[in-house]
Amino acid sequence: MQSAYIHIPFCHHICHYCDFNKVFFKHQPVDEYIEMLIKEMHHSNKITQDNPLKTIFIGGGTPTALSAKQLDRLLEGITKELLPDNQLVEFAVEANPGELTQDKLSVLKNAGVNRLSIGVQSFDDELLKKIGRVHRTEDVFRTVHQAEQAGFDNISLDLMYALPGQTIEQFKKTLETAFTLNIKHFSAYSLIVEPKTVFYNLMQKGRLSLPPQEQEANMYELAMKEMEKHGFKQYEISNYSIPGYESNHNITYWNNDYYYGFGAGAHGYIDGVRTSNIGPIKKYIENVQNSGHAYQSQHQVNIEEAMEEEMFLGLRKVEGVQKERFFEKFNISIELKFGEQIKQLVNKGFLIDTEHAVFLTQKGKLLGNEVFQEFLIS
Ligand SMILES: C[S@@+](CC[C@H](N)C(=O)[O-])C[C@H]1O[C@@H](n2cnc3c(N)ncnc32)[C@H](O)[C@@H]1O
Ligand code: SF4
Repeated sequence: MQSAYIHIPFCHHICHYCDFNKVFFKHQPVDEYIEMLIKEMHHSNKITQDNPLKTIFIGGGTPTALSAKQLDRLLEGITKELLPDNQLVEFAVEANPGELTQDKLSVLKNAGVNRLSIGVQSFDDELLKKIGRVHRTEDVFRTVHQAEQAGFDNISLDLMYALPGQTIEQFKKTLETAFTLNIKHFSAYSLIVEPKTVFYNLMQKGRLSLPPQEQEANMYELAMKEMEKHGFKQYEISNYSIPGYESNHNITYWNNDYYYGFGAGAHGYIDGVRTSNIGPIKKYIENVQNSGHAYQSQHQVNIEEAMEEEMFLGLRKVEGVQKERFFEKFNISIELKFGEQIKQLVNKGFLIDTEHAVFLTQKGKLLGNEVFQEFLIS
């Protein structure tokens, strides 16, 4: 089984922290882009009844920036090209609060979408303003309520912390408000200041006041503690769910399994080849129009790289890397391949090594990147 990611690179508003592949919606060839997405999917002829998709994730940018009619056309194309005999476990769509109108919700529901991931970031209106979001807290309540009314019960919210000027108390309040809603899953990310964003420019000028590292760590620990208290099990560094509501799609990535990447700038990993699509929208359209695909690069992953990826992706999961699975995949034991690194990381207090698995300690979760880089040999 495999997965598919579909990228919608349009937003009605650009946020101060965002470096994802996206452009301002107005004056963009949106309809043409959707047709090219469908054409690109049509050329991926390896999705068959015998080799079906397990999950689809439509992300962005902002999929809900599309009109109901555009969403309908996109979903019609997906059904025709990717779902010959629908065996999907999960069909997820990313949404912005305030953009999920009744008609868009019914279009999604009718097409079989069964999970919504809503970009909330914070329940503090002042902070939302500061990070350049256009929605406000009341939009989140309304959107979640409407989604529930439309029959969606698998709803995830994205939250961000370590935001400029944010205090622990403010973050705690955001978490408390979030728990009042009937939500099954949360992703909580600490802010990364990315180059070419408004925040990056402010930081360069010394005008961005970020919480110190220690406070960021305290916020992460607070998130873990509060999530657990409210019945949300942490299953990945930044992800928490009511058991049974984990993101199956994201687990594909962390399990280092195969997925297609459709759309401008999308990445894929199919049959051992990592693909990356051209980012600029007009170029993407031109390429798909001419050749049915828009690869910027294709890289055959060798066994060494695959083993490294298995480790640094798998260790993101709380359950870690399963030894048996590693052996089945690579025909070599994890101890033989990475015994030395594992031993050192265990001694430093970053990893736990048991009979069946290797996984991060609490300290390891806080300093994940330090752990992951130890497995990059080549
Ligand atoms: C790329 S956004 C797309 C979804 C949607 N447009 C939105 O704004 O929610 C996916 C999620 O990534 C997270 N994110 C984006 N940029 C980030 C950054 N610089 N640092 C940390 N998290 C970020 C946010 O929580 C966001 O909801
Ligand atoms: S965070 Fe979401 S809405 Fe904001 S610019 Fe990025 S993709 Fe668009």
